[in-house]
Amino acid sequence: MTIFLLVLAYLLGSIPFGLIVGKVGYGIDIREHGSGNLGATNTFRTLGKKAGIIVTVADILKGTVATVIPLLVGADMNALFFGIFAVVGHVFPLFAKFRGGKAVATSAGILLGYTPLLFVGILVCFIICLYLSKYVSLSSVITAVLAFAYTFFVDDIPLRIIMGLIAFIVVYRHLANMKRILNKTEPKITWL
Ligand code: G3P
Repeated sequence: MTIFLLVLAYLLGSIPFGLIVGKVGYGIDIREHGSGNLGATNTFRTLGKKAGIIVTVADILKGTVATVIPLLVGADMNALFFGIFAVVGHVFPLFAKFRGGKAVATSAGILLGYTPLLFVGILVCFIICLYLSKYVSLSSVITAVLAFAYTFFVDDIPLRIIMGLIAFIVVYRHLANMKRILNKTEPKITWL
């Protein structure tokens, strides 16, 4: 059952909603536009608000569902470990030639399923960072690192391990964004 749930989580995470919405709804492969990333931010950037919201919600829910199913069926491993498989699926999707997103929305979805209060906390942190910096990428990185730092103040070792892994993946996947910020070529948002 554990193996089945881990595979299920990976396959769930592998569903490339950005690609599906782009191709089905607009005839566009978002990986050929904007930052080239298969994520919610690039969907907003390339296809607009409606598609962006759909992909954000769907990418978040991949992490949430992958975390909640093991909780519901009483899996014999901490639910976060299933959630991280959805994140790996999102970053390296089987259904999109392993070219996926940057782990942000799906990781947030894990927290929504595991500890909704922390989800609200990271959302507030992300919005404050975004308001101050206008960079989605920088806000994602700062939020992921702060969320990991937070785990040292709570007695939850699985949460600390998973948030450490997530922070590593998020930082690693945003290295090109960080270079662009230093070169002043990273796009800023204009609506906040
Ligand atoms: O969630 C990904 C975001 O932090 C950055 O996306 O498209 O600007 O590289 P993008």
